[in-house]
Amino acid sequence: MKHLLSLESLTRDEMIAILSRVPAFKANRRGHVRPLEGQTWAMIFSKSSTRTRVSFEVGIHELGGRPLFLNAGDIQLGRGEPIRDTARVLGRMVHGAVIRTYAQQDVADFAAYSGVPTVNALTDDEHPCQILADIFTFEERRGPISGKVVTFVGDGACNVPVSWIWAAARLGFELRIAAPPAYQPDRSILERAGGRVVCMEDPREAAVGADMLYTDVWVSMGREAEAADRIAALGGYQVNASLVRAAKPGALVMHCLPAYRGKEIDEETFEAHADTIFSQAENRLHAQKAVLAWLVG
Ligand code: CP
Ligand code: NVA
Repeated sequence: MKHLLSLESLTRDEMIAILSRVPAFKANRRGHVRPLEGQTWAMIFSKSSTRTRVSFEVGIHELGGRPLFLNAGDIQLGRGEPIRDTARVLGRMVHGAVIRTYAQQDVADFAAYSGVPTVNALTDDEHPCQILADIFTFEERRGPISGKVVTFVGDGACNVPVSWIWAAARLGFELRIAAPPAYQPDRSILERAGGRVVCMEDPREAAVGADMLYTDVWVSMGREAEAADRIAALGGYQVNASLVRAAKPGALVMHCLPAYRGKEIDEETFEAHADTIFSQAENRLHAQKAVLAWLVG
């Protein structure tokens, strides 16, 4: 039984196999294979979502399946029924599950107890589907990411940069993370991952010669109580025209969205790179179809 619980749990060959199927799904929205024909997939979401929810609902539908969206607050899970029991119930009724939640362990428990393919649609630890779509977006514009330089600027300890760390380790590109010390990823993750991952405090130094500048919100979901501290600490880590000038000419600027203009990116830079950024969002649909086809293939 295959799951996509994290990028840490994917091998290089598995990542390449998934990415290699994305172009066919993108080229032909309706005429492609329908590996979920007759299946129902639960989508259990404990956090807000626009892109992930819609791309999975549409993607499951276009692959022949039926998405069943379950707001965690509307099912007994929200009243304290354990994830393991929820998994044992749903596993007897649905063919797969897509889960957005807080604890990574909840996704792992759901996979272990449900007996159906399970996808991490964002936890506090990782956002694997996002980074697969982002790599596809980079490669369709700039060719193989292997050997390139990706610079992440902002909250370097949250789910998005952590998934980037595992992607860098598997696919052989250099990842630079520019963040204040308190917002750099755990040493233990860097040691486990290996690869060419460098953390630094100076965003300009991290941007020099980069093929891509990437940022994410300063206040991730679940961290709202820390908003004022985070905005104060991360104030110098904005992707803006001056940082773009330090990168390689023609560098891509990417953002997983939602974007907070004037915080992690300025309005001018966001709009100048909107075509890339909204392609990232669209590519969630195509990349996740490749993930789902791989899971059931
Ligand atoms: N990037 C992303 O996962 O967006 P949503 O939170 O809208 O799903
Ligand atoms: N790091 C962000 C990603 C949103 C898609 C969060 O967890 O809120």
